[in-house]
Amino acid sequence: MRALFRRKPFPEAPPQKLKKVLSVLDLTALGVAAIIGAGIFSTIGEAAASAGTSVVLVFVIAAFVAGFSALSYAEMASSIPLAGSAYTYTYVVFGEVVAWIVGWMLVLEYAVGNIAVAISWSGYFQALLHSWGIPLPLYLGKDPLSLWQEAQKYLHTHDTAFQAAYTAWQEAPRLWGIPLVMNLPALLINALITGIAYIGIQESRTMNNLLVALKVGAILLVVVVGAAYVQAERWLNFMPNGFSGMMRGVGAVFFAYIGFDAISTTAEEARNPRRDLPLAMALALAICTLIYIIVALVLTGIVPYKDLAVPDPLAYAFSQLPLSSGLRSFLTGVVAMSAVIAMASVLLVFQIGQPRIWYAMSQDGLLPPFFGKVHPRFRTPYVATLITGLVVGIPLFFSSLSAVVDMTSMGTLMAFAVVSAGIAYLHYRPPTGYSPRFRVPKIPGRWPYLIMVLMGTLWAYQLHAQHFSALWDFSQGGDIWKYRILLAVVIITGYFVMRYNLSLLPILGMLSAFYLILELGAANWIRLGVWLGVGALLYWGYGYRNSILRKAD
Ligand code: ALA
Repeated sequence: MRALFRRKPFPEAPPQKLKKVLSVLDLTALGVAAIIGAGIFSTIGEAAASAGTSVVLVFVIAAFVAGFSALSYAEMASSIPLAGSAYTYTYVVFGEVVAWIVGWMLVLEYAVGNIAVAISWSGYFQALLHSWGIPLPLYLGKDPLSLWQEAQKYLHTHDTAFQAAYTAWQEAPRLWGIPLVMNLPALLINALITGIAYIGIQESRTMNNLLVALKVGAILLVVVVGAAYVQAERWLNFMPNGFSGMMRGVGAVFFAYIGFDAISTTAEEARNPRRDLPLAMALALAICTLIYIIVALVLTGIVPYKDLAVPDPLAYAFSQLPLSSGLRSFLTGVVAMSAVIAMASVLLVFQIGQPRIWYAMSQDGLLPPFFGKVHPRFRTPYVATLITGLVVGIPLFFSSLSAVVDMTSMGTLMAFAVVSAGIAYLHYRPPTGYSPRFRVPKIPGRWPYLIMVLMGTLWAYQLHAQHFSALWDFSQGGDIWKYRILLAVVIITGYFVMRYNLSLLPILGMLSAFYLILELGAANWIRLGVWLGVGALLYWGYGYRNSILRKAD
C-alpha cells in the first residue's frame, strides 16, 4: 500500500528541457482557444430551449463550477510549475496510484476529447464546403461504420433520408473489393494539428494566437449584427420551465467551459509559470464567460427560445432573420467559419496538452521512456506528440464514437474533483516549504457547509417533498440512485469538513464537479468503470513496476 501511495516531493527547480517561450497573453490565448469550441456552437441550443432567457444564468452557474476548480488549479499551478497538470499535482498531494488514475482520466479529456472535436469539426467543414459549392462525396465525409449502418437502414426501410448513404456506399471506390470510406477532413485536420504541435511550441503559439483572434472576431461580428434584431420582449420568457428546466442545461453547457485547465500542461514552457498560469486561467475563464453570456442574450433575443433545440443554433438563428439573401448567406458563412476555426483551436490546444501529460508520466517512470523523448531541434515531446496523433487518428478511421463527448466531460470532471480535494488537503496540512504564489481564499468550512446543507435540504424538500421518502425505499431504482449517491457523498464530505474544518471553496469545487458527474448518467459511470479497469491493468503491467520513485526507494 505504501508503494501505491508514494508521493512525489515538491519540485524545487523546474527542469529546462522544453522551450520557455509563453507569456501571460499567450497562455490566456491558449485558454480561450481551448474553451470556446464545439460547446457554444451546439450545446447552447438544447440548454436555451429548456431554460429560456435564464440560459444566461446557466452559463453563470457553469462558470462558477468551473471557477471553483479553476481556483484550485491556479493554486496548484502556482506552486508546482511542471508539465502534467492535474496528474503531477495529484502525484505530489495524494500519491502515485491516484496520480495514475488522474493521468488516465486526462486521456479522456484530451485524446478522446479530440476524437469528438475532430468529428464535429469535419461536420462544420463539410457544411462550409457545401456552401461554397464544392460538396465532398459522402464516402469521404463519414466513417465506414456509420455509412454502412445508414446504407443498411435504407435497404431495410427504404427511408429516403438514408438514400444518399446507400448511394455513397455503392459509389465508393474499391480496393480489392473493399469500399474506401473514411472521414477524410477529420483525418486531415488531425494530421495537420499533430504536425504543428510536433514542429514547436512557438509555431503552435503563433498559430493559436491567430486562430483565437479570428474566432473571437467572427463571434463578435455575428453578435453585433444579431444585436440589431433583438426583440427585448423575448427576454421576458426568463424561466419558462422553472428552476429544474434551467438546471437541466448546466451539465451540457459545462462542456463549453472545459479547457482552461489545459493551459497548465504547458507550465514548463511558460516564462513565469507561478505568476502567469493562475492569471491566464482567470482571464481566459472571465473572457469566455462574458462572450457566452452575450451570445446567449443575443440568441434568446432574436428567435423564440423553443426553436433553439437544433444541433447548430447559431446558424439556425441567423437563417431566421429578415435579412437580404446575400447578407444572410454571408452571416451563416461567418458562423460556419467561426465554428471551424474555434474547433481547430480546441484541437490544437488538446493536441499540445496530451503529449505533455504523457511526457510528465514518462519522466516519473509510469510510462516507457520514449514518451519522454524531447526533439533535439524543436524541443517538443515529439514521440508523445506523434503517438497522440495516432491515438486520435486511428479511431477516426473506423468509428463515429458519438458517446465520447460525455466521456470527455466525465474524465475532466474527475480530474477537477481530485485537484479540488487536493487543495482542501493542502490547506489542512501544508507540507514544509509549501509556498504557492496564488492561494485560494481559505474560508473555514465547518459552519458555512452546515448552513448550506441545511438550506439546500429545506429548499429541495419544498420543491420535491413527495420524492423524499423514495430515497429510503430501496425497491425503487433508476434515477433516484443519483440522489442517493449525492446524499451519501454530501454526508461523507460533511464528516470530514466538520471534523477538520476544511477549506470551503475547494470543497465546493469538488462537490460541484461530482454533482455534474452524477448528472451524466449511469451508462457513462459504467463506461468510466471499464476505462478505470483498463487503466488499472496498465498501471499494474508497467507503471507500478517501473516507477522512478519506487526504484529510488
Ligand atoms: N470547451 C471545448 C468546446 O466547447 C471543449 O469545444
